[in-house]
Amino acid sequence: MTTDANALIALARDCLDRAYAPYSRFRVAAAAVDDRGRVFTGVNVENLSYGLSMCAERVAIFSAVAAGARRITAIAIASSGADLLSPCGACRQVLAEFAAPEVPVYCDIPGEPCRWTVAELLPHGFAASRLRGD
Ligand code: THU
Repeated sequence: MTTDANALIALARDCLDRAYAPYSRFRVAAAAVDDRGRVFTGVNVENLSYGLSMCAERVAIFSAVAAGARRITAIAIASSGADLLSPCGACRQVLAEFAAPEVPVYCDIPGEPCRWTVAELLPHGFAASRLRGD
């Protein structure tokens, strides 16, 4: 794990206390880097109407996109849970929209953080080539 990866994980972890998770009490934070080296953070934001809640990863990615980013080059995820957090399916598909298959996804757990790639998290995903039928 590079210093950069550890720094990104630390950035995500630092955001955990900003998560708004009064219903699940499960805090999640993410830090995404774009191809200009800018870092965008996000936290999960829950709602009394539970289905409206939004994951930390998508908040970070959407924040990057809103700032003009189109290419995510790394993302780190931290949670308040004791176990490894593996991103949900919706976040994997959204990440695949803006991150190449080889982009690293770092997940924080005590000890050695986990490193996956976008392709490992979303094998056989829905891709633009399938939409075009080629
Ligand atoms: N959550 C995330 O923020 N990211 C994930 O990848 C999985 C789940 C949030 C959604 C909800 O606020 C809480 O964790 C419990 O599901």
